[in-house]
Amino acid sequence: MAVERVTERRSFLKVAWLSLGVAALAEASWIVVAFLKPRPKAPKSAGSLVVAGPADGFAPGSVTAFPAGKFYLVRLADGGFLALHRQCTHLGCSVPWDEAAGRFACPCHASVFDLRGDVLAPPAPRPLDLFAVRIENGIVKVDVSAPIRRSAFDAAQVTRA
Ligand code: FES
Repeated sequence: MAVERVTERRSFLKVAWLSLGVAALAEASWIVVAFLKPRPKAPKSAGSLVVAGPADGFAPGSVTAFPAGKFYLVRLADGGFLALHRQCTHLGCSVPWDEAAGRFACPCHASVFDLRGDVLAPPAPRPLDLFAVRIENGIVKVDVSAPIRRSAFDAAQVTRA
């Protein structure tokens, strides 16, 4: 009688451990699949124009974040404008502006970019991408429909009022 109980308990524990192992394996598999599955990209909307505001509202040497548009509007010391995509050109992390240091510093792998988006420290392979800026009747507008790749800063990239 006692031997049967021990045998039943062992069988029960064996089945319980096996069930837990299968559940853990299934959960781990789901996590791996979810991690490896490509994420759908946000649809590009044609004519995605962000009205940033009057050009005079941005002080020379300033950086203004536009989180919804995923860009920083930079007004250079000479008055020109650049719209920098906030996505790191290394692996795509969001790059915050460090006001105290006067640079963009990626928190993921420590790439650093200057005010114009040029790489100061790798591993980022190229400058921050740009969005097209235009100024109409003194109002700054940024087209966020497609980031523009570049290999380095060039004065031709700057939009002036
Ligand atoms: S994603 Fe920015 S340095 Fe790697």
